[in-house]
Amino acid sequence: MASPKTRFACSSCGYISSRWLGRCSDCGEWNTMMEETMGRSDSSPRKDNARAACPINHIPVVEEERFATGIQELDRVLGGGVVPGSLVLLGGDPGIGKSTLLMQAASRVSLSGKKVLYVSGEESVQQVRMRASRLQIGDVPLYLLSETDIDLVEESIRNVAPQLVILDSIQSVCKRDLSSSPGGVGQVRECAAQMMRLAKTEGIPVFLVGHVTKEGALAGPRVLEHMVDTVLYFEGERHHSFRILRGVKNRFGSTNEIGIFQMENEGLKEVFNPSELFMTSGVSDVTGSVVVPTIEGSRPMLVEIQALVCPTGFGTPRRMTAGVDYNRVSLILAVLEKRVGLHLGGQDAYVNAVGGVRLDEPAVDLAIALALTSSFKEKPMAGRLAAVGEIGLTGEIRPVPQLEKRIMEAARLGFSICVVPGGSGLPPVVAKGMKVAGVENLEQAIESALRF
Ligand code: TYD
Ligand code: MG
Repeated sequence: MASPKTRFACSSCGYISSRWLGRCSDCGEWNTMMEETMGRSDSSPRKDNARAACPINHIPVVEEERFATGIQELDRVLGGGVVPGSLVLLGGDPGIGKSTLLMQAASRVSLSGKKVLYVSGEESVQQVRMRASRLQIGDVPLYLLSETDIDLVEESIRNVAPQLVILDSIQSVCKRDLSSSPGGVGQVRECAAQMMRLAKTEGIPVFLVGHVTKEGALAGPRVLEHMVDTVLYFEGERHHSFRILRGVKNRFGSTNEIGIFQMENEGLKEVFNPSELFMTSGVSDVTGSVVVPTIEGSRPMLVEIQALVCPTGFGTPRRMTAGVDYNRVSLILAVLEKRVGLHLGGQDAYVNAVGGVRLDEPAVDLAIALALTSSFKEKPMAGRLAAVGEIGLTGEIRPVPQLEKRIMEAARLGFSICVVPGGSGLPPVVAKGMKVAGVENLEQAIESALRF
């Protein structure tokens, strides 16, 4: 039986229960309840007087001053730099490059004359020093500390008085008063709370690194998302060198910006021109390849979609996707079958976004449909072509947001035709040297896109 000072917390949603449960009664996940020991319970009544509430327009507006890390892709995702006193969580799979990114940011900030403390609970200072030399940032006045006791970390921070703290990682530090092991929900939550108090009272921005596995099984980061000001995820495919930094929550900026990096031998390099990364060299006569101008945050980015359609050997047709939504592809196949009359029932279909990027917006529908049709009919595109549009169940092409930006990006990269939703919002200006073809339904789109 659990002692009265023990409780159980769900590592997925943070639900608290006094007894162990096989399945969390809040989020329904199995085997997520972790035991934690409660610290000193503060049962003494509060002595200080309650603060008076005041009308919102009596509170002076103070512009929060930010400072740049010098890594533009990171600054943009943060909403324009680091806010003093903010707590930022950087999550991601192990080995994706979190330590590398923050090490590079730390060195840039310390080069700009600010004091930065990098606390590593996972590596010795020698190991961190070795990574720094590999990143060619050996000679910066950056403070290093290898420590796993959160109280000693706090003491060190107070001694050094830095203007930026990086704690790598939150799972590796622990509080001695708590009996549970490092990395447990209780420990992670308690340590993060301590860092938050420090950040808020001293006005020092703190970056926490958190490891997450694909299954989200590892205790920690999920329960932290509620506490911190900003949650960033660093993601990428293991077999590709590029990495995407995504904002999931941001109290000081928008969350739809992304930062793109490429992992190289000397660390992460910023990618300012992502369009060139996600297209093959542009053999125009192949079938099953269409480029789509997508928008990530405020930036347009051209991505090549490839499809392969071939007769099924036996049994049920196989459908496979990489980088695009599986269900979306099934829906597009059904629309092509029913509205355009393509007999795809006995065909295997494979759809892939080049470069390992993940595309979520429905605006890529039309490119997927055209790539599938092109492969099925063995017809290439009519020129260097880009296509964008959402497909409805009746086969109509629906408008997409920020169309003009997408068209301009395609024109900038030398495309000769851009197939776009024709119903409304077609920009009157035609981009230089590029034909903009507005289409209303899938049949029209196939007509104007494929070379028959
Ligand atoms: P790391 O930052 O240690 O990952 P995380 O902190 O997220 O666990 O990065 C580890 C990977 O990055 C490792 O597989 C090696 C690779 N890497 C490079 O390719 N180039 C570099 O300059 C560095 C420092 C790491
Ligand atoms: Mg690391």
